[in-house]
Amino acid sequence: MHVRVGILTGGGDCPGLNAVIRAVVRKGELVYGDQLVGFLDAWDGVMERRTIPLDVSSLRGMLPRGGTLLGTRRGSPYDHVDGLQRVQATFTDMGLDALVVIGGNGSLSVACKLHQELGLPIVGVPKTIDNDVVGTDMTFGFNTAVQIATDAIDRLHTTAESHDRVMVVEVMGRHSGWIATYAGIAGGATAILIPEEPFDIGAVCELLRSRHERGRYASIVVVAEGAEPKEGTMQSRDKVYDQFGHVRLGGIAETIANVIEERTGFETRMVLLGHIQRGGTPTAFDRVLSTRYGVAAIDAVHAKSWGDMVVLRGDEVLTAPLTETVGKTRPVDPHLYHEVAEAFSRSFSGDGLLRPLRLNGSGDRRVRRLR
Ligand code: F6P
Repeated sequence: MHVRVGILTGGGDCPGLNAVIRAVVRKGELVYGDQLVGFLDAWDGVMERRTIPLDVSSLRGMLPRGGTLLGTRRGSPYDHVDGLQRVQATFTDMGLDALVVIGGNGSLSVACKLHQELGLPIVGVPKTIDNDVVGTDMTFGFNTAVQIATDAIDRLHTTAESHDRVMVVEVMGRHSGWIATYAGIAGGATAILIPEEPFDIGAVCELLRSRHERGRYASIVVVAEGAEPKEGTMQSRDKVYDQFGHVRLGGIAETIANVIEERTGFETRMVLLGHIQRGGTPTAFDRVLSTRYGVAAIDAVHAKSWGDMVVLRGDEVLTAPLTETVGKTRPVDPHLYHEVAEAFSRSFSGDGLLRPLRLNGSGDRRVRRLR
């Protein structure tokens, strides 16, 4: 049966959003004969009925394009006194049969609530570079962010080695250190600091000292923006909040770099990758995952799997209840963090540091100095 399906993108943007939209529209129009409509600027567009028609021809060339053609915002109908009535009225007046919500933890929680409280026919698609949505093995956008961060770390190695410096690289990851862990392992970082495991800056300095004593004069420390020092080990930052009450993160690398330089005497620089990790073209992996999610989402609409989201479990794309993810964040798998550490480190002591051991011989520098 042909249906009228709305699509919105909510929360922070991430590479692959356009690829999901394109897949929903292509299968919806070409296989099911559906009519697709895009809501602009997330829930604002639903409340204000700001829409654009979506069809196969209007989405040509969007597969590799980053960002979202629909625009995105934080915030939800629950922030407005008449928000729910306006959402309900949009569904009724526009004759909407379904809404596909592409979002992270915030947008998916709102989608779940609207489904439960108003009975709205909603299907979710999990996105975020942070990879912290519970219920799915991976969100799209994560792979791209990891690749961007890894490329940056690769570049930082050569300049760090040339100058005998420590580089502290800050990556995104509000509550979970997925990007830091993957990019840190892929980039051969000396230490990886993540929100799940408060770090001891004294132990980080010690690790750098012992590495430099062994003849390595350059090191990379990767830190997730949400990482916190162990109580009493280093001054925590003052918290700044945005209009939705979210802590505005970013900047811990600078504090860490200053402390490292002060305590070790090693020249230290910091790099904050910030929104570069969210911009630009998705990797091939993310294009495929986004396309699979989009196809599964429109299939879920036709199966009337209301209140579900599409998820990746192993190699399969399935559906799971949105309730699985509400109010939770998915931490980094401790086995990944610790087992890889044990495999690659001589001196892992379970103190929140991942210490990959360089496997290219002992004591030799990657860039040999002629002296
Ligand atoms: O999308 C999640 C995220 O990338 C977090 O890692 C980060 O803290 C936040 O978004 C930054 O968002 P904003 O766009 O509000 O600066």
